[in-house]
Amino acid sequence: METVVSGIRPTGNLHLGNYFGALRNFIKMQNENRCFFFVADLHSLTTHPKPDDLAGNVKQILSEYIASGLDPEKVTLFIQSDVPEISEMYVLLNMLAYVGELERTVSFKDKVRKQQNNVNAGLLTYPVLMAVDILIHRPGKVPVGKDQEQHLEMTRIYARRFNNLYGVKLFPEPDAYNFGNDLIKIPGLDGAGKMGKSENNGIFLIDDEQTITKKVMRALTDSGPVAPNTEMPEVIRNLFTLLKVVSSPDTVQYFTDKYNSCQIRYGELKKQIAEDICKITLPIRRQIIDIRENTEYLNKIAKLGAEKARESASKTLYEVKKIIGFNRF
Ligand code: TYM
Repeated sequence: METVVSGIRPTGNLHLGNYFGALRNFIKMQNENRCFFFVADLHSLTTHPKPDDLAGNVKQILSEYIASGLDPEKVTLFIQSDVPEISEMYVLLNMLAYVGELERTVSFKDKVRKQQNNVNAGLLTYPVLMAVDILIHRPGKVPVGKDQEQHLEMTRIYARRFNNLYGVKLFPEPDAYNFGNDLIKIPGLDGAGKMGKSENNGIFLIDDEQTITKKVMRALTDSGPVAPNTEMPEVIRNLFTLLKVVSSPDTVQYFTDKYNSCQIRYGELKKQIAEDICKITLPIRRQIIDIRENTEYLNKIAKLGAEKARESASKTLYEVKKIIGFNRF
C-alpha cells in the first residue's frame, strides 16, 4: 500500500483549480492508499490573515474536503498546526536548505513581485515547510497541480541531501501525481494564467448555479476562427481545457469539430461548460452548507486526524533526531 500526502492552504473557498488539480485525486486515491490530507494553515500565515478569517477558512476547507467525498474513516484528515512534529522537523530541515536555491524558486520570485512590502522569511523557506509536510510521512506520491511541480522537485532534493549527508536511506523521493495523467493547470476565466483564490478569476465549489452561469458566460472569447483547422488562441484553449475536465469525451469532440469547421458558437460552448460544472459542484455545495454547520462533528474529525497524523509524524521525527545525533545518551 502506497503512502500519499497532500494539502491545501486555507486562504479562501476552494475553486475548480484546487478541485481538479488536487482534491479530486485525493478522493480517487483514498480507497487504495495510506492517505494523509491536511489543511495547510501554517503555510497561509505568510500573508498575515486576521485570526477570525484564518479560523473560518480552516473550517471551510475541512468542510469542503468532506463534502467533496473524502472519508475521514479511510484517510487521515488533519490540520497542519495540530501536528507540532511538523514545526520541529522544519527547524531541522532548514539547516539543509540553501538561501540561494530558495531565492531562485519561481513561487518565491513571484511573491517578491506581488507582495513587495511583506517578503518575510516564511515565504523564503516555504518549500522547506512543504517538504517537511510531505517527508514526515515518507510517501511515494503527492497529488498536486502543475504549479507545485518545482516544490516537489525541491522536496526530492532535500530528501536526497539528508540521506546523503547522514549516509542513510530514510526518505523516499516522492513524485508529484495526477490520476492517470500529466499534472494539470486549470486556467482562470479572465483569459490569462491559472485559476486562483485571490485572482478574481475563479469558480468556487460553494458558488450557486446562477453565479457559475454568470461567471462562465462572461469568460473572454475572440471573434471566432476564420479558417478551418486553425490553432486556438489562448482564451479559447482555456475554455476547452475546462470543457475537457467537466464534460464527456463526446461533448469535447462535438465542440472541437465545430471549432475546426468554423461553426462554433461560443454561447453554446459556454452554456455547456456551465451546465457540466454545475452537475459536479452543486451536490458538493449542498453538502458543504450542511457540514460546516456541524462544528462538533468537524472538531471530532480534526481531533481524530491529528492523533493519526502525529502517530505517523512522530515516528519519522524520532528517526531523524536519532540520525542527526540527538538522543545519544
Ligand atoms: P494551494 O493551496 O495553492 O493549492 C492547493 C492545490 O490545488 C492545486 N491548484 C491547482 N491545480 C490546477 N490548476 C489550478 N489553477 C490550481 N490552483 C491550485 C495546487 O497545485 C495544489 O495541489 N503549497 C501548496 C499547499 C501545500 C502542500 C503541502 C501540497 C502545503 N504543503 C504538501 C502538497 C503537499 C499550495 O500552496 O497549494
